[in-house]
Amino acid sequence: MKATDYIQREAKYGAHNYHPLPVVLQRGEGVYLWDVEGKRYFDFLSAYSAVNQGHCHPEIIRAMTEQAKVLTLTSRAFYNNVLGEWEEYVTRYFGYDKVLPMNTGAEADETALKLCRRWAYDVKGIAPDQARIIVCDGNFHGRTITIVGLSDDPSSYAGFGPFTPGFTRIPYNDIPALERALEDPNVAGFLLEPIQGEAGVYVPDPGYLRKAADLCKAKRVLFIADEVQTGIARTGRMLACDHEEVRPDILILGKALSGGAMPVSAVLADDEIMLTIKPGEHGSTYGGNPVACRVSIAALQIVKNENLVDNAKRLGVIFRDEIGSIRSERVELVRGKGLLNAVVIRPTGNETAWDVCLKLRDNGLLAKPTHEHIIRFAPPLVITEPELHEAIEIIKKTINDLDNRA
Ligand SMILES: Cc1ncc(COP(=O)(O)O)c(C=O)c1O
Repeated sequence: MKATDYIQREAKYGAHNYHPLPVVLQRGEGVYLWDVEGKRYFDFLSAYSAVNQGHCHPEIIRAMTEQAKVLTLTSRAFYNNVLGEWEEYVTRYFGYDKVLPMNTGAEADETALKLCRRWAYDVKGIAPDQARIIVCDGNFHGRTITIVGLSDDPSSYAGFGPFTPGFTRIPYNDIPALERALEDPNVAGFLLEPIQGEAGVYVPDPGYLRKAADLCKAKRVLFIADEVQTGIARTGRMLACDHEEVRPDILILGKALSGGAMPVSAVLADDEIMLTIKPGEHGSTYGGNPVACRVSIAALQIVKNENLVDNAKRLGVIFRDEIGSIRSERVELVRGKGLLNAVVIRPTGNETAWDVCLKLRDNGLLAKPTHEHIIRFAPPLVITEPELHEAIEIIKKTINDLDNRA
């Protein structure tokens, strides 16, 4: 079969809820992907920052296959001999009393919202059904009905209403707006991404997270950080909140928690919050399964053993310096932290970021636009400096080719 055959088959039998870049992949290793014709690419998406540890990391695959031979799923109807080990490992790793395992990022966000509401009623003493949670313009927390109801992006919410009540949306990176919203005594939580990934890698002003967390604390409002995309070394700290020494009351993780091997997500909090949910009140059949736990321990060990935090920090500076030095009308700006970066493409004629991504693909690098004119560049964090320079040359050449063609 040729690439076009695979694409046509998906179009015929699969729902059309994605618009993939036309490239059909069949193998991955480290920072590289290969298509069905054997062509090699740098992966500069990392499955939306899930593959921080690189494709098919041998330690993750070993953990996965060894556990898969022994026990894959018991459900939480019974105990298993791995879940507690993971819970101990993860809570120590991130410094919380307790963890609650789920699978996808959206489920973990939903879990955090439920925890926040329950805490509002049982601990803070808000009257039944009156709790409100503040969210931000430009947010992306996943695709469930409640979560798309928080979005101001029509491609997320339009045509899916009615939505869950109890949320207040304010501008991102706007402390006065947060202060005003916090005046409502029924506010129980503030949910935000410490850097907005899907919106186009929007990094808030220095001091924003710190100030926001302090304001929440003063009003006894839970600071809930969605670090599904920014967490686990991506931005050059273990968590993006670490850049401002902020410890969220509720921490939401996903994606790289398993290094791309399978869906593993988690919510971390201390007992005052976590123990408000009682047996039978929340769960997931696959959440905390033994394979997920083994995979996740291996994925987190790699982050420390291979110094991925330092690598992301160091190479991110090089990336922004190099891309920022490109002299081209097309490159409006580059922004980001660590190895979560975006390049804003200045519109030229009918050309969009999509067209630039097609050219990058032709030149051997895969990236995906987020919105019309923004390309996110987020390679696996195991990328080496020589590999990064090679990839930067591809980006430079691509921009140069487009400039010369115009
Ligand atoms: C910040 C954030 N939260 C939640 C999600 C949803 O994760 P999932 O696709 O695993 O449900 C994403 C996915 O991109 C995300 O970036």
